[in-house]
This record gives sequence, C-alpha cells and structure tokens, in this order.
Amino acid sequence: MTAVADRSLGPELVRTESLGAADALVIGLTSSEDGPVFAPADAFEDVLDADTRAALLSSLRAVGAKGKSEEITRVPAPSGLDVDFVLAVGLGAVEKIDAEQVRKSAGAAARALTGVGTAVTVLSGVDLGAAAEGFYLGAYQFTAFRSAKSAPKADDQPVQRIEFLVPDAGFGEEELFRSQAIAEAVATARDFVNTPPNELFPAEFADRAAELAAAAGLQVEILDENELAAKGYGGIIGVGKGSSRPPRLIRITYAGGDQRVALIGKGITFDTGGISIKPAQSMENMTSDMGGAAAVIATTLLAARLSLPITVTATVPMAENMPSATAQRPGDVLVQYGGTTVEVINTDAEGRLILADAIVRAGEDDPDYIIDVATLTGAQMVALGTRTPGVMGTDEFRDRVARISQSVGENGWAMPLPAELRGDINSKIADLANVAPHRWGGMLSAALFLKEFVPEGVQWAHLDVAGPAYNTGGAFGYTGKGGTGVPVRTLIATLESIASE
Ligand code: BES
Ligand code: MN
Ligand code: ZN
Repeated sequence: MTAVADRSLGPELVRTESLGAADALVIGLTSSEDGPVFAPADAFEDVLDADTRAALLSSLRAVGAKGKSEEITRVPAPSGLDVDFVLAVGLGAVEKIDAEQVRKSAGAAARALTGVGTAVTVLSGVDLGAAAEGFYLGAYQFTAFRSAKSAPKADDQPVQRIEFLVPDAGFGEEELFRSQAIAEAVATARDFVNTPPNELFPAEFADRAAELAAAAGLQVEILDENELAAKGYGGIIGVGKGSSRPPRLIRITYAGGDQRVALIGKGITFDTGGISIKPAQSMENMTSDMGGAAAVIATTLLAARLSLPITVTATVPMAENMPSATAQRPGDVLVQYGGTTVEVINTDAEGRLILADAIVRAGEDDPDYIIDVATLTGAQMVALGTRTPGVMGTDEFRDRVARISQSVGENGWAMPLPAELRGDINSKIADLANVAPHRWGGMLSAALFLKEFVPEGVQWAHLDVAGPAYNTGGAFGYTGKGGTGVPVRTLIATLESIASE
C-alpha cells in the first residue's frame, strides 16, 4: 500500500453560475433575534423567488433550526428546486462570522454530506476560499488500511463534488485554486501522520517525500545512516540507533527567489521513549510524532505549487526512537552536528536532539528565516491544551507567526523563553543536558535547548504542535480524528507574508 502517493483526492471543487440539478443544496443560516436567517442574506435572490425562499425558511424553522455554529439541519427541497434535499449549516451570530467560522461550518456540512454525490452551495457568497478549504478538509477520510470488511460503503463515502454558486464566470477562480492547493497540502500532511508506524519508518518516509518532491520538480537530497555518521550528525544517529530501521535526513529545496526560508520538522516515525520508555497507555498516539516533518514537507511542495517568489528548503530529520541493545542510554554523551556535546539524561527528550542537528545544517545555507515545527513536548498540552500551538523564537518573528496563525484559524500563541530557565539545561559533564531536572515550563526549556543551535541574527520561530497535530477526540469543524495537518496553513501564510515583503 502506498497511501500517500496514491491518496484518493478529496471532493472536486468547481464554480457554477447557475443553480442546476444536484443531490443537495447547502445553505448557510445565521442566528438573529427573530430566529434563523439566510447567510449571506441575499444568498439566492437571483436564483430563488421570494415565495420559495420564504417556504424554505419556514420549514427550517419548523424543524427547529436556529443557525447556531456548525448546526446541521436537513429538510426536503421546496418545490421548484431540482435537488433532493437542502442542508442548512449554522454560522452562529452574524457579527461573529469570519473566515474560520465559514471554514468550520463548511467542514461540518461536508461531514454531514457523507454519501452524497454533488452538492451545490451558496456559502461561496460568504467567503469562497474559506468555504472551499472547509468542505475539502471536512470531507477528508483515511481509508488506506481498511479491507473490504470495513471499507466505507457508498453511504459512507465522502461527498464527491461541491459546486460553488458564484455571480459570474471570472469570479473567484484564483482564490479557489489557492484554497484547493492549500487543502490538498493539509490532506497530504494528514495522510503522512495517519500512515501507521510499521509502514512509515524513516527510509520509507524519506522515499515517499522524495517521490512527491521529484514529481514537483524540486531538488532532493537524502542522507542515509552511513552518511549521517560520517558527517557527524550525532543527534540523529543517537536517537536512531535503537531501531533496526535506520534514520535519514531529507532536504527538499524549492528555489523561487532571493529570500531564503529554512523549514525544519521533527520526523520521529514512532516514539516509544527509548530506554526511558513511555507507559503503554496511549503510546499508539506516538505514530503522530512526525507531524512536524509531515507539515514542512507538505508546505514546501505547496510553496512550489503556488510559485511563491522565495526559496524554501525543508531539512527533515527522521528516526524511530526504540529501546534495544543498541539504543542510546540515559547518561550517554553525544556530539551534535557542528560539535556541541549533549548529555542525554532522558532518551524520551529525543526530538530536540534530531532537531538540533537539522537546525545547524539548515543554518549553513544562510537562511533569512528559520521555522521549526515539532510535536515536541507533553508540556505544550499542559500549558495550552490540545488545539493551541505554542509559538516561540526571536521576539518579532515569533509574534508575527503567532498573529498569522491566529488569522488562519490555527490559533498559535506566543510564549516566552525565560532567561532563568536556561541554566537548568546545563550538564555536569557536557555542553548541554537534553532535559531540565524539573518539569516546570517544559515546553520552554525544550525551545531554549533548540535556541542554542540557531545561528545568531537569524529570525527564528519554533512551533510546538504536540497536541494540535493529532486529534485523539471526535471530529469537529473541518477536523476529523487523527492527523490534522496543523500547522500547514500557518506555514504557508507565513511564507506568503515573507514573499510579499
Ligand atoms: N513526542 C513527545 C512529546 C509528545 C507528547 C507529543 C504527547 C505528543 C503527545 C516527546 O518526544 C517527549 O516524549 N517529550 C517528553 C519530554 C520530557 C522527557 C522532558 C515529554 O513531554 O514528556
Ligand atoms: Mn519522546
Ligand atoms: Zn517525541
């Protein structure tokens, strides 16, 4: 099975200028003092006469529709409409409708359209790009590992086609292209995360990423375990040496302009903790410990697809953190790429070890910006919960990335790097220890460790997405169970912002 390369595409997204035949019509409702009203208010003034609109609204009210956020109401189509049914999705209070609300509601609608062939929607009138992303991502399913015994039947298949009702032929063409490309990149990242760790081990992950990059015409370089050892990548080798499946470092470059951005992603294909082994409870979720890698690979391909006028290089270390007779021990000292020595106090703090090598390597290219992304610490979830990425780094760029993340609905939040925590990662015998001797501010001390490897003067952002990259709960908005694709949309919006400087 090659789940990633062969991913069955999501729904076809097309524009249409007229309300023709379809299986479903998707409309938006907002809540007002006088009950639910259409959103946008003039949604189908051109396509439905006043009587039909009134009939539709009264049947929606009759079955209790209120227009609350993500509320789904299904009613028979009023006569004269060539659709099987109308699906109304709530957008909440009108004054609070923003792009993320539209994305969430469209995602909820897409999930409710399971089993439907073609749906036509007027939500494009609210925000076409956001609606397109929401529908595409809400329809996402990962079924590569289901045999006929549990494969989705026709009724469980994602909606196949969404038609966006637009005012005229030219309207929204570029916006739809961009939104679809972004949604597909998010889906690519989700696919990588959802592929189980027995199938997606470091060499396989690197090969699949290389295949996608080569298909996009990008430069690719892969270092295997022998080259990594010969060149002194002691962090990647140290973490990877407990596994029978050796580590890799993959570099993918999209050369589109003078400004250079280095993206780095944590690619632990499975994290048992190593000799400092994790408890069995929920260990299976550590299949998501390559979520940072998945996001930066997908984003680099996306930057190429959108022809951004900048150069983006992804530097992605990949390893499997296993306990074995060849595994590194607590107490070992390793030499990171570039020469810094590190005492490995806890083999479960492995992410920072592979990232340190990658950050030093990425720094050799003289980037203007470095952005690293990692499912780095459980402390991220203690501090911010499961849906809010922690954003750290150099002050100005950190704030900029957090702001951008908020604006795209991924909600990254700026966090400090308190100077007094730095001394806690000093080692008795080496340059650094890989953990502090206490658990306070664990997300911050991990970032302070990484900071030691970031070249002076380079704008840097570190995103800890331990919780946000993987949804262990039920579906919500446009996010299903499993890989979420966070923070692909923050990354591409940041690259676009840099490109427009
Ligand atoms: N991959 C984990 C962090 C993680 C935890 C991601 C839960 C997603 C969900 C990371 O490698 C790890 O084990 N971190 C340790 C660090 C500690 C030993 C300082 C942690 O957070 O417990
Ligand atoms: Mn770990
Ligand atoms: Zn980890």
